[in-house]
Amino acid sequence: MKYALLLLTVCCGAIALLLAESESSKSSDALAATPPMGWNSWNHFAAKVSDAIIRQQADAMIASGMKSAGYVYVNIDDTWEGERDASGVIHSNNKFPDMKGLADYVHSKGLKLGIYSSPGPKTCAGYEGSYGHEEQDAKTYAEWGIDYLKYDWCSADKLHLDMQQTYQKMHAALLKTGRPIVFSLCQYGREAVWHWGASVGGNLWRTTDDIEDKYDRMALIGFGQNGLEKFAGPGHWNDPDMLEVGNGGMNEDEYKTHMSLWSILAAPLLAGNDLGKMTPQTIAILTNPEVIAVDQDRLAVQGRRVWQEGPLEVWMKPLADGSKSVSLFNRGNGPGKVTVRFADVGLGNSAALRDLWSHKDLGVFQTSFSAEVPQHGVAMIKAH
Ligand code: GLA
Repeated sequence: MKYALLLLTVCCGAIALLLAESESSKSSDALAATPPMGWNSWNHFAAKVSDAIIRQQADAMIASGMKSAGYVYVNIDDTWEGERDASGVIHSNNKFPDMKGLADYVHSKGLKLGIYSSPGPKTCAGYEGSYGHEEQDAKTYAEWGIDYLKYDWCSADKLHLDMQQTYQKMHAALLKTGRPIVFSLCQYGREAVWHWGASVGGNLWRTTDDIEDKYDRMALIGFGQNGLEKFAGPGHWNDPDMLEVGNGGMNEDEYKTHMSLWSILAAPLLAGNDLGKMTPQTIAILTNPEVIAVDQDRLAVQGRRVWQEGPLEVWMKPLADGSKSVSLFNRGNGPGKVTVRFADVGLGNSAALRDLWSHKDLGVFQTSFSAEVPQHGVAMIKAH
């Protein structure tokens, strides 16, 4: 009898654990069913970010049409952190006098607020990290009304912590708050995070070191993502880092390549520019509804390279309606003719094509399609 009871207890415990885990994975899936879209302060403002800037960016997200295009998270990156009080509760520094008030403001616009911390004692910029205060910090974020946490490894390196357990710990703390908070892992793709990021509660995980507003760096990261597609899906995405579109270091063709590539990759789309000062070209790139639809497609499959010859590449992402989005890239110096053979992207002999940057139907083509692509540029089409 004693053994039967023991067995029953163990079994019930195991079932309860399984149910809890599957509930938590269901809720993570719902949190980021498609790749998260929003804005982050780091690429443009870095340590200058403040309450006033976040309010301006939230306002601009609406006025510029970014919100209507699907961008929703307004994320404060590093340098908001102040001191801990005698009970260990973290406070924001004087750039952020009232975090709860700021969250209320962002929420009143129909947007969501994100924040940043590190599992180590210090963040990358040397501010207060969450080490030893994980539950307390998660609780504080939830009380403020935070909807997204980027958790950046940095000084945790010195502690020689187990990376997976460390991320799992913060995820458990976030779950305990009862508030849905998107969990963004930032450890630069170490220890092949794509294999375990989802199992420690990550909704997205950085796959590389930091992006820069330069074509070569963006291209190295973006085109280097091939092969990671099997690890992405609803609730858990590869993150090749935030967008640089509009920051001025690349030309229009290069920014179109950046946006096309991130969308083919089903990457999180976190703009990293000043939303209050965008040229019409920047707005057109960031809000192109046909390109965003590729990124956000509900089939939720990350695209991959299907053909390459020297600097010319063709990438394909299958879409829920049975069509394929195909990008013809030219990484070379000087214009180049890129051809996609329909057989290489799983299309039949004839396909109707639409250009997603010029918003024009191109007509019906047989067996292949070729485009003259400018240096560092792209032709992005949808084929069915
Ligand atoms: C690291 C991250 C960046 C940014 C900075 C902030 O470099 O990878 O995205 O968050 O830290 O200090």
